Amino acid sequence: MKKVKLAVVGVGNCASSLIQGIEYYKHHHNEHSDGIMQPNINGWRPQDIAIVAAFDVDKRKIGLPIEKAIFAEPNCTTVFQKFIPVNGVRVKMGQLLDGVADHMAEYPSSQSFRVAQEDPVNVVEELKSSGAEVLVCYLPVGSQKAVEFYANACLQAKVAMVNCVPVFIASDKKWANNFTQAGVPIIGDDIKSQVGATIVHRVLARLFNDRGCKISRTYQLNTGGNTDFLNMLERSRLKYKKISKTESVQSQLDVPLDTNEIHIGPSDYVPWQKDNKVAFIRIEGKGFGGAPIDLEMRLSVQDSPNSAGVVIDAIRCVALARERGLAGPLNSASSYYMKTPPAQHRDHIARELTNEFIMGENIQVNKNKIN
Ligand SMILES: NC(=O)c1ccc[n+]([C@@H]2O[C@H](COP(=O)([O-])OP(=O)(O)OC[C@H]3O[C@@H](n4cnc5c(N)ncnc54)[C@H](O)[C@@H]3O)[C@@H](O)[C@H]2O)c1
Repeated sequence: MKKVKLAVVGVGNCASSLIQGIEYYKHHHNEHSDGIMQPNINGWRPQDIAIVAAFDVDKRKIGLPIEKAIFAEPNCTTVFQKFIPVNGVRVKMGQLLDGVADHMAEYPSSQSFRVAQEDPVNVVEELKSSGAEVLVCYLPVGSQKAVEFYANACLQAKVAMVNCVPVFIASDKKWANNFTQAGVPIIGDDIKSQVGATIVHRVLARLFNDRGCKISRTYQLNTGGNTDFLNMLERSRLKYKKISKTESVQSQLDVPLDTNEIHIGPSDYVPWQKDNKVAFIRIEGKGFGGAPIDLEMRLSVQDSPNSAGVVIDAIRCVALARERGLAGPLNSASSYYMKTPPAQHRDHIARELTNEFIMGENIQVNKNKIN
């Protein structure tokens, strides 16, 4: 079976989990419920993804073979697959732009980024010569210019994109049109983890409304100790992350809440938590006869494998779209896999649409929506 050739931008914790997972599923069951949502997409199993190019800016990763770079500091995610075979790919210097926040320099190097003093490579040429078919974008939150730079590189090199970052590309009309015009498919924006705070909050909020209960207010507070959480201490980088997370929950309600009655966002950086993310969700509502119903929930996950379990499907879906000659945002898979897709659906509908797309049943729907 021909492999899906993948380029990775940002060799951080999420990339580490994804690449570990590709190897892990060579040696373990990969049926549904073995940590995998879609064991087989177009004949591609999780292990049928091959890394052909990788870009970063951290001096501890540049020049390293990818199988070593994923374990380099400051990555701190859980190691569930120690052995990764040599594949000859080394991490290349990308374009820094706004990828690294100034406050990172104030933290110990074991916890934060250290930029390499090297000239960037020609990313478009690297993508072309590597034969990459899909690029997954794992840049830090707030990297508006850097994400746009790599999106442009995808357009020029005709490489499909999976945008895991809350910088609006697939969900932005102008960018979506650029992808359609260039004949390149994209899934985005901002990855919605397997069983993460967003999907749990969405489903619980829906449950209240489906059972006739009115939600009066809600919050979702998140803490973690990885570089993603450290980066998000800089509030100015957070704007679109907050919009993405909040609108993802608002989109599921019969009547969206007043902005004062909903608070969702990353809340603090707790170094010793490392890649363990803890979400505290509270929903206050009223049931029969106006009787109060208050829900308090705590969710504890390993942040990066939780997102990789979704990205492993998104990569194969966008590769399938590419093979079918589709262009622009893939609406079905974006709504299932991303917090901010071009069009929001209830999660069970997004799942059905994605399954139909994989089976080849709603290609026309996607084509129509793209055009
Ligand atoms: N569950 C999750 O982990 C989850 C869920 C949703 C969204 N995301 C998003 O995915 C993205 C990646 O998350 P992560 O935990 O892997 O982050 P991370 O901080 O571990 O990794 C980011 C990597 O990008 C590199 N980088 C910075 N600027 C760069 C540039 N200009 N070019 C190339 N590389 C650059 C850094 O050196 C680092 O290796 C973040 O935006 C995060 O918010 C993650």
